[in-house]
Amino acid sequence: MAANPLDVISEDHLRERQICAAIDGLAMAAFPDRQAAQTVLRFLDGELNVHLRDEVEDLFPLLARRCTAEDSIESTIGRIRSDQDEVIRLLPEVRAVLAGCLVSGPGLSVEDRALLTLFAGRVRRHLVAENAILIPIARARLTRSDLRVLAKRMQVRRGLSSIQETGNAE
Ligand SMILES: [Fe+2]
Repeated sequence: MAANPLDVISEDHLRERQICAAIDGLAMAAFPDRQAAQTVLRFLDGELNVHLRDEVEDLFPLLARRCTAEDSIESTIGRIRSDQDEVIRLLPEVRAVLAGCLVSGPGLSVEDRALLTLFAGRVRRHLVAENAILIPIARARLTRSDLRVLAKRMQVRRGLSSIQETGNAE
């Protein structure tokens, strides 16, 4: 894992952007690409879940603690969280549509395509707001100790043991 956990979050956002492009591709294709659907499904079940938890459980609380009133971080976090909540709410239906892409059939309905487009739009809006606002503020405000805590929590969530920590190895 990269030394700075904020770099890891930025890398996750790059990956999310690629996944959004794959979802848009599925929404537009005459016949869905099974491989692409499989890749997106795997991402939604694994990395996306971990990423959202990194932010909601660790990054947002650290930011809320460190930021000053002039950062108006609460309203930004509020907006991002409402997009995340919608992403989570749409997930079961999106999963079902993607699972349908894995079996041969008549292709996606108009409603399925609209759902995929809506979902990709919400994921993209969350990452754009975070890249433009939250990550730069986090780089300015989080202390070195905050970053260590964040890195540690993200490593644990990924099943990685910390390289720097000593004495607590299993
Ligand atoms: Fe994010």
